[in-house]
Amino acid sequence: MTAVLIDCDPGIDDALALALAVASPELEVRAVTCVAGNRPVAVTAVNARRLLDLFGRPDIPVYAGGARPLLYPEPRTNLVHGEDGLGGVVLGRDARPVAAEHAADALAHLLLSPSGADLTVVAMGPLTNLALAEIRHPGLLARARGIHIMGGAVHCPGNVTPAAEFNFWADPAAAHVVMTAGARLNVFPLDVTGQAAMTPAWLAGLAARPAKSARALAAMLAVYGAQDPLLHDACPVAALLRPRLFSGAAGRLEVEWRPGPEEGRSRLHPDGEATAMINTGLDTDGLLSLMAERLASLP
Ligand code: BDR
Ligand code: CA
Repeated sequence: MTAVLIDCDPGIDDALALALAVASPELEVRAVTCVAGNRPVAVTAVNARRLLDLFGRPDIPVYAGGARPLLYPEPRTNLVHGEDGLGGVVLGRDARPVAAEHAADALAHLLLSPSGADLTVVAMGPLTNLALAEIRHPGLLARARGIHIMGGAVHCPGNVTPAAEFNFWADPAAAHVVMTAGARLNVFPLDVTGQAAMTPAWLAGLAARPAKSARALAAMLAVYGAQDPLLHDACPVAALLRPRLFSGAAGRLEVEWRPGPEEGRSRLHPDGEATAMINTGLDTDGLLSLMAERLASLP
């Protein structure tokens, strides 16, 4: 069993990634930490709480963290996932409160605990929480067994500017801190998540299931799919379950953190020691069948 902490900004593809994680017996989700990204952190944290409750996992703690990027006074959000971040799909009105501890502190406590070296961190939003924890405890992220990250666009254009993918653009300085932390990084940029496209038949199969989780996810994906049919955030979770669905190469990944039109760009340094595994290839059918199989077990 792999112990994981999921850092996210739900977000509809984040919701699907959370569902995949909690539906997979190989993973023990120890905590979910939230960050400002798709929506402000007050929204993403409540969304994560409601999603876990829907998936039958009220026991998993949710922590709210970074409300703004390291270098900017306001969060960089988007409306791809709707005003509420979940495409207007109502999951329940009375979400229980999220945990009081700051997400970056919760991450640090878990990594510094005796079992911290067993923990894999899966990050699928801006990297603010990971960077805050690393700045406060230098060397912290290198303690993790691995860090799977959805972010960046290496050999393809970005999706928020020509240069940058949303998660890296939303907090470029945090992405730089994480890329240079000396941790075991496994990165899933747009190069690979751009291949994680759901099909109408796959979505119809999910919508036809009687379980409330599947119906809610299908309703969200129907909204999101009109703008972006890509299941970006499921990729770093799926790689923990079926690593052979993915292919790539090790390299030295750098992120442009200085303000300007290039900020958030990720590029491979031509030489120097490799700092990350960079995934570029995907067996899309394999990913979709894995997800359909796993989501079938949710309530
Ligand atoms: C990333 O941006 C967000 O909108 C998605 O949730 C995903 O994490 C893709 O660029
Ligand atoms: Ca996300």
